[in-house]
Amino acid sequence: MTESEEIIQNNLDYTLFSWSKQKGISPIAVKYGKGVYLYDYDDKKYIDFSSGLMNVNIGHGNQRVTDAVVKQMQEICYVTPSCVTKVRGELGKKLASITPPGLNKTLFTVCGATAIDNAIKLARMYSGRHKIIARYRSFHGASYGSLSAGGDPRKLPADSQQSPNFVHVEDPFCYRCPFGQKFGSCEYECISHIERVIEFEGPANVAAVLMEGESGSSGCIKYPVDYFKKLRAICDKHGILLIIDEVMSGFGRTGSWFGINNHGVVPDIIATAKGLTAGYIPFGALILSDKIASHYDDIPLMLGLTYSAHAVACAAALEVLKIYEDEDLINNAAEMGKYIEEKVAEMALKHPSIGDFRNTGLLGCIELVKNRTSKEPMAPFNAKPDEMVIMNKVAAKIKELGMYTFVRWNYIFIAPPLCINRQQVDEGLSIISQAIAIADEYVVH
Ligand SMILES: Cc1ncc(COP(=O)(O)O)c(C=O)c1O
Repeated sequence: MTESEEIIQNNLDYTLFSWSKQKGISPIAVKYGKGVYLYDYDDKKYIDFSSGLMNVNIGHGNQRVTDAVVKQMQEICYVTPSCVTKVRGELGKKLASITPPGLNKTLFTVCGATAIDNAIKLARMYSGRHKIIARYRSFHGASYGSLSAGGDPRKLPADSQQSPNFVHVEDPFCYRCPFGQKFGSCEYECISHIERVIEFEGPANVAAVLMEGESGSSGCIKYPVDYFKKLRAICDKHGILLIIDEVMSGFGRTGSWFGINNHGVVPDIIATAKGLTAGYIPFGALILSDKIASHYDDIPLMLGLTYSAHAVACAAALEVLKIYEDEDLINNAAEMGKYIEEKVAEMALKHPSIGDFRNTGLLGCIELVKNRTSKEPMAPFNAKPDEMVIMNKVAAKIKELGMYTFVRWNYIFIAPPLCINRQQVDEGLSIISQAIAIADEYVVH
């Protein structure tokens, strides 16, 4: 057995894999990473086109984060959340300087799901109302609360165990408008639908609307222009809080610090994680408006976690935030996002299976279809294994050609680290182009 085979075998024999049957998988055994590349034990290089799970925003192997973490560990690793550290205060202050105006206080969590769960709890406690409205095509994490909040079908196997009082609405999915409309001639039925649902549910029962700053794993569905302004107005009319999930869309991924910055509205609560530490250490955060934060000046804030504000995670995050600025990564994400748009538009001319490409900065995905007019997807929503035959061939080719990226149903994600350059974009897109040629053969004219 080679070293690589032994590593893979140990993992297969003694560990479990998420969202997957346990037999028949062949994971990449990653030895190390540098920038946009991962290397396995046989020194095969993979370009990482989904930044891990859209979290390694600064790229792999950045020594500055390791140094910051080691320095913090040499001082103190852990203090209870009722004690403080230098890095916790500095990180809170730094976050206040980059978040939308009026969101200045942070409760640190351990990941995205714990940020979302706490946001939901807080919205309910603060408002005294219980219902949360969220989108069907959204994913907010895999804890009970966050899984029930999302509409992603990963929750369906645990359907009988859902937590209560989540109400779902249709997405503003213009490519496949659920209201049969076309953007430009529509009347924003996606918004009047939400208002109607709120009326049906009783506005006085609705604590919050929860949405991603930009949509991610559900297919980078782009919010139509002014969607959030209209939604904010509805929330304000009924005294409903707007919670924005910036777990995936935060920290430069969309070419702005936060996805919601692209929409000209200020939320009441931001829940975030991933890019906060760029995946170097697990971490998350809940950032509150001054109005909500000050409500707890004189009454207890009944939220808490053993690992809230973990000193090592705070040190990693502080360094990661400096790296975004020092390396000008957020502007680069915006610029590379535009470059990718041009290049994918060229690719679409020769690949009839490309139905749509949606991105904001470096949060994007190609949607493959069997026919551009009917828009029949190459694999359906929540595809069963036998419906994934074509897409599995595409994914296998991507891997064979030296790329790691997230392929889901008929989506191929293009969300590389924010440090990517044009040459590396070209290299990645060339791999995707070769793999998509397989899907082209299944296009029905
Ligand atoms: C938008 C969004 N919210 C929340 C989460 C949950 O984050 P975590 O896996 O860190 O709990 C994810 C994870 O992919 C996500 O994409």
